[in-house]
Amino acid sequence: MEADISPLKVCVVPFGCQMNRADASAIQELLERRGHVPVRDEDEADAVIYVTCTVRQHAEDRAFSRLGRHARRKRDGRRVILVLAGCCAEKEARGALERLPELDIVCGTRRFHLLPELLDRVRAQGGPIVAVGLDGRPGHEGGFHWRTSPFQAFVTVMRGCDNFCSYCIVPYVRGREYSRPPDEILDEVKRLADDGVKEITFLGQNVNSYGKGLEPPCDLAELLARAGEVEGIERLKFVTSHPKDLTPELADALALPKVCPYLHLPAQSGSNRILAAMNRGYTRERYLELVEMVRERAPGAALASDFIVGFPGETEEDYLRTRELVERVRFSQVFVFKYSPRRGTAAARLPDDVPAEVKKRRNNDLLALHLEIAAEDNAKLVGSTVEVLVEGPSRRDPSRLAGRAPTERIVIVDGPPELKGEIVRVRVESATALALYGRPEEEG
Ligand code: 5AD
Ligand code: SF4
Repeated sequence: MEADISPLKVCVVPFGCQMNRADASAIQELLERRGHVPVRDEDEADAVIYVTCTVRQHAEDRAFSRLGRHARRKRDGRRVILVLAGCCAEKEARGALERLPELDIVCGTRRFHLLPELLDRVRAQGGPIVAVGLDGRPGHEGGFHWRTSPFQAFVTVMRGCDNFCSYCIVPYVRGREYSRPPDEILDEVKRLADDGVKEITFLGQNVNSYGKGLEPPCDLAELLARAGEVEGIERLKFVTSHPKDLTPELADALALPKVCPYLHLPAQSGSNRILAAMNRGYTRERYLELVEMVRERAPGAALASDFIVGFPGETEEDYLRTRELVERVRFSQVFVFKYSPRRGTAAARLPDDVPAEVKKRRNNDLLALHLEIAAEDNAKLVGSTVEVLVEGPSRRDPSRLAGRAPTERIVIVDGPPELKGEIVRVRVESATALALYGRPEEEG
């Protein structure tokens, strides 16, 4: 029998974090290069590829339940190749086939580059195929970006994590840290800039430990400085940073002309007891020192944080310490997550003893507190001028434009549609907890 090499309609669906979206975009590019045709509608596709997240149980369940629908249709006779890729694939490996026997391919986080070939093999010989393992690097770093608009892109600069926070599954599903060589990244930045990109966000699970093991040495501060010199690049951002690895040099880099004064520095908790149990490697006091350092070296920089509520053993007292930290630092953005035990992590051995309703209450309370703070801090910006990269029509009110200030604050702009993709100076006229509102400043 001749191997079938006709193009497939492929639908690549990302779940979870921005790195997953960048991975999904890279996978789609690889498949397109092989002649396959991307489609948006999963039900129309010959191959459905889920790039999954397993950071919390809920994320994993969502992917499996959506794949379950495809599996049922497959049992009813629809011909479709089902691929579980990414973090769930790495975690479950062969076990995924027990959960969903209709899967054709299970492809882990360091095997994406094999997908075109794995699809060919499944078409020629049938499945299932399991390709997992954290040795080696994905072989497709050359063009590793996610283009979110003609003028914005995310570029993965490092992967993996060596920190082993006690709650976190990432080190087990993304493997050890490694950094891409700076010249390779800068070539990519140049190519993107030549193609009209103005704003680039560097991605890494632990982005501020970028450079570990590189010879000659290079760190994130240096990479940002060099990328800022590339013609056409107007804005540089980076996520996500670990407090333990925050250097004075990186705090200084936040004040460079092209680097956005925005630092996502997850604190996770404000209680030293919980921080120690989380194996975060810093105390509340150290975290506050770092905040001071950033505020001294990059005045006006916005700080954002993630928090986990309901970690095993978290008492009301511990939670109040987290609340105080939010009040004290006045983060511009706060992302709150209810603790979810992940099998294989150190914390999963502790009893998940904070009741669901308490986790929910703390979650809502922390978000409400942050909204109050954000409303106050945003109100202080009324009357000031901010530079906005206009992204396009506002989703809520398409007659207006939406974009972001360098601090990541959303800005709704009254102006003509031609401003899309431009950086404009906007006079802030009003503000809510979630956005600033204004119009372009008059020229001259
Ligand atoms: N349960 C809840 N939240 C988690 N996060 C990571 N692991 C877990 C977990 N097991 C959160 C952290 C991290 C963000 C990406 O997800 O706050 O910063
Ligand atoms: Fe989810 Fe973490 Fe994997 Fe990103 S790296 S997809 S957040 S488990």
